[in-house]
Amino acid sequence: MTAATTFQLLDGKRCSDSLKADIAKEAAEVKERRGQPPHLAAVLVGNDGASKTYVEAKVKACESVGFRSSLIRLPETITEEELLHRVAALNDDQDLDGFIVQLPLPSHIDPEHVTLAIDPRKDVDGFHPVNIGNMVLGLPSFLPATPSGICELLKYYSVETAGRHCVVVGRSNIVGTPMSILLSRNAYPGNCTVTLAHSRTRDLPSITRQADILVVAIGKPEFITADMVKPGAVVIDVGIHRIPDASKKNGFRLVGDVRVEEVSAVCSAITPVPGGVGPMTITSLLLNTLKAARG
Ligand code: GUN
Repeated sequence: MTAATTFQLLDGKRCSDSLKADIAKEAAEVKERRGQPPHLAAVLVGNDGASKTYVEAKVKACESVGFRSSLIRLPETITEEELLHRVAALNDDQDLDGFIVQLPLPSHIDPEHVTLAIDPRKDVDGFHPVNIGNMVLGLPSFLPATPSGICELLKYYSVETAGRHCVVVGRSNIVGTPMSILLSRNAYPGNCTVTLAHSRTRDLPSITRQADILVVAIGKPEFITADMVKPGAVVIDVGIHRIPDASKKNGFRLVGDVRVEEVSAVCSAITPVPGGVGPMTITSLLLNTLKAARG
């Protein structure tokens, strides 16, 4: 068989639709049992356009599986102290299974203070150090949505991971670092030999070319080119960027961290942008909220 006939688009929309059908059934069971469906709240501080879009997508996803959702909009000018009070109230709200505070926050608020103030039992983003520590130890925890969504996608497409070399590009707390941990665990997906590359990595192309599985979360549009990819690799593109494009009605197109056209000719599988990792991230948040509701 030629490489072309085995090429696979890792369709996050399709995978997330399949998972959401199961989540909806389980949400109905939760409602039947306790009279209330799972309930997620999302806190949005300020008017950042991208954050607003993401939070609205999360609220819409809740509706699509029969969850209750609450969008809490707070002004850009809110003080850190006031926000911490709101977080404390959400921790104590018995009607709520989980909540998130959308990042980034205005520069006068320290996101670490906010993350630490969230009760780990309601931290469905999986950002609190207690959840991160439990994840590292392989104990029950809420997993960060993007890396856990990528694991779900690898599972859905039965991508073999054991013994394979995974290179993660980008070491953020939200994506790269937890991704490296999840893929090195003794589990499926996992059991990879993981290299975590970052801005200080020397000769990055020589590292990425060793990857059987390449996860790119560097936040630079079309950064990964075909010469950086091993033939037959599985490529996961976490980036999403708006690029001005006069030929489009809305004046822009969406691209990832990977130059998709040329890389598709080399790799065996790739996530599209949009429709790859994005829908999986939101679905993982729903899975965490369901888990919180089940207790
Ligand atoms: N900003 C970008 N991604 C995320 C996420 O997964 N959760 C929150 N709370 N903020 C984000």
